Amino acid sequence: MENRYGKLASWVYHLDKPIGRSFGDIEFYRDRLQNYSGPILEPAVGNGRVFIPLLEAGFQLEGFDASEDMLDYCRRECAARQLSPLLTFQTFSDFQATTTFDAIIMPAGSFQLVTQAKAAQDLLRKFHDLLAPGGSLILDIDHMKGLLEPSGAMRRWRVNERELLTLTSSSPEVDYANQTSFSCLRYEHWKDGALLTTEVDFFNLRWWGINELCLALKEAGFDNIEISGGYQHGKPPSNEDLIFSFEAQRRPSTNS
Ligand SMILES: C[S@@+](CC[C@H](N)C(=O)[O-])C[C@H]1O[C@@H](n2cnc3c(N)ncnc32)[C@H](O)[C@@H]1O
Repeated sequence: MENRYGKLASWVYHLDKPIGRSFGDIEFYRDRLQNYSGPILEPAVGNGRVFIPLLEAGFQLEGFDASEDMLDYCRRECAARQLSPLLTFQTFSDFQATTTFDAIIMPAGSFQLVTQAKAAQDLLRKFHDLLAPGGSLILDIDHMKGLLEPSGAMRRWRVNERELLTLTSSSPEVDYANQTSFSCLRYEHWKDGALLTTEVDFFNLRWWGINELCLALKEAGFDNIEISGGYQHGKPPSNEDLIFSFEAQRRPSTNS
């Protein structure tokens, strides 16, 4: 039940963050990928919010995700646009690739879904090894305050005149020793005021210090690490930024 993005969670995600909905990230990733012509991987591709605009911009992308419901949205939206990228049902821990990549991208703080420090370090190493020499990993993480703040009121999304989806989140349980924040998310689907379905998901995220992630990237073998605040490339991160982006390169030589 943890970070599983089930049926209602995926539906809400797709209503709230449809294809092309940008927080500045789509433009940022599109610009940063300009120099890459080879294959690009998006782990945790979700509904294709970022993936599809990048495909439409001419990049050669493939993606994987651990939620069949999220992948269903992505496949449907690709088909509606006559796009047929490789999309697979895989997890961070069992992902296997048949090629190397020029770039790997992880927008929307998806890297923070890996809550065990050791698993996160292993994943960075895996990404490093999946990159072609000279290739880059680009990912972003949220400011930790976003993970610690108490949740707001119930949120709602109108499906149509008669149907509504709601989301109520518990206040986060914070584990300062392990840098994680755990919330219980209750999704509900209503029709004409009657409850049709309920789904409960546990949402667990890890926060990172900026320097800590920089050191972890180096430990995984990366070089030339650039950190930008607020999706403005080259802007040093500041406390006002809600998001920090990391771009880290696999050394051009193969013996790294
Ligand atoms: C915040 S969404 C990001 C979706 C998309 N990348 C975007 O930018 O909108 C996080 C995604 O991570 C996926 N996910 C969660 N745990 C995962 C895991 N262990 N392996 C692969 N994907 C996972 C979820 O299913 C969900 O689609």
